[in-house]
Amino acid sequence: MTQAKSSTPAARQIHFGATIHGPGGHHAGWRHPDAVIDASINPDFAKDVARRAEAGKFDFVFIADGLHINAKSVPHFLNRFEPLTLLSALSSVTERLGLVGTLSTSYSEPFTVARQFASLDHLSRGRAGWNVVTSPLEGSARNFSRDHHPEHAERYRIASEYLDVTKGLWDSWEEDAFVRDRESGVFFDPAKLHTLDHKGTYFSVEGPLNVGRTPQGRPILFQAGASEDGKKLAARHADAVFTHHDTLAEAQAYYADLKRQVVEGGRSEDDLRVFQGIGVILGRTAEEAEQRYQDTLKLLTVESAIDHLGRFFEHHDFSQYPLDAPFPDIGDLGSNSFKSGTDKIKAKARERGLTLRQVALEAAAPRPHFIGTPETVADELQRWFESRATDGFIVGGGTPTAFSEFVEHVVPILQRRGLYRRDYEGRTLRDHLGLPYPENRYAVAS
Ligand SMILES: Cc1cc2nc3c(=O)[nH]c(=O)nc-3n(C[C@H](O)[C@H](O)[C@H](O)COP(=O)(O)O)c2cc1C
Repeated sequence: MTQAKSSTPAARQIHFGATIHGPGGHHAGWRHPDAVIDASINPDFAKDVARRAEAGKFDFVFIADGLHINAKSVPHFLNRFEPLTLLSALSSVTERLGLVGTLSTSYSEPFTVARQFASLDHLSRGRAGWNVVTSPLEGSARNFSRDHHPEHAERYRIASEYLDVTKGLWDSWEEDAFVRDRESGVFFDPAKLHTLDHKGTYFSVEGPLNVGRTPQGRPILFQAGASEDGKKLAARHADAVFTHHDTLAEAQAYYADLKRQVVEGGRSEDDLRVFQGIGVILGRTAEEAEQRYQDTLKLLTVESAIDHLGRFFEHHDFSQYPLDAPFPDIGDLGSNSFKSGTDKIKAKARERGLTLRQVALEAAAPRPHFIGTPETVADELQRWFESRATDGFIVGGGTPTAFSEFVEHVVPILQRRGLYRRDYEGRTLRDHLGLPYPENRYAVAS
């Protein structure tokens, strides 16, 4: 059992983040008798999850997001907080917990977003993280005065230039630029102010940013997107990735490939942390956990599962097909939205000969891989971590009480095994993740 604190390979420690995802669970999770029924728009619920995550010494809370809804969307998506607004509120009720929010590079401006995350980093004294997404949903274009949703590869080209711009803006001011000398009347040192003057394919941004260098040097960059283009973007820019794999072997292959790309790009493999998003269901016995999962399935109708599935495929109407016939051939549908996810759904249906009903139920209410007693769930987390399938996990509850049970019962087991911190060692999200502090490019050059 290792207990060391350094970042030597022997002392590798599991990292945890927590999703704040309304009542949690699947499409009909809100119907569970223990669910906080208005959790998606209830500030006290979000604060409670954040406080529990901090009590469990988690690296961060994580907020997903989307930019288009319709009547068939997941109920949580219909009425929820904008991530940065919520994270700003959470920054004032927590001290150490990282605050990671999703924002799309396809439907925002780099100057505004650089400013927002820099502000959150100052406001929280070094705890801000941005989950960079390219937006899968085609309808988003119609909410942003556009006549078309950029295609998948172009979204990633936009994202790459976008991150060059935001990183440039975050270097506008060197760390000690603000002198604030009452005596001499010097407010800042002009030699430490830098104007970006970016003119590229998609963006033209003069700068400088009107927020000084942030406590973490710059906010932490997460990336969620698992296609080849997504991995390329992560290898070049990200500090962490949010991904999801159904099996240990798939997760290991993804992990090895991404770390290889990070090293080929000239960084160290420890400069990027991989997080698997997981659902968890716990019980005092394996049977109780299984029963809890079965109980959640009873809340779900096949019609809502079909709606859930349709969202991944540009809200395709799957109700036109027979439920118990093989999954229909829908051609390329989905490849310009949730590409990595829809490719996987189609391949799985083909390989396992699944019917539409089976595909819909699996997509809407997947049986969590991490289901069982606290001991067996801890064993499985340890196995994934030690076999280099991941550096950590972003935990979402498969039942309304799963997250608090996880903090209460699974975390102490991993602490006793020396795999997980008993207390925070640093103050910033960067410290928690064990990532290097980025030097300002101009300070390095001078
Ligand atoms: C684990 C994971 C989480 C994601 N979370 C979000 C999210 O919260 N909001 C969003 O707009 N897109 C999210 N995405 C979508 C991606 O950003 C991307 O737009 C889409 O998946 C297509 O890219 P890909 O084929 O590279 O995965 C997520 C993707 C993955 C794999």
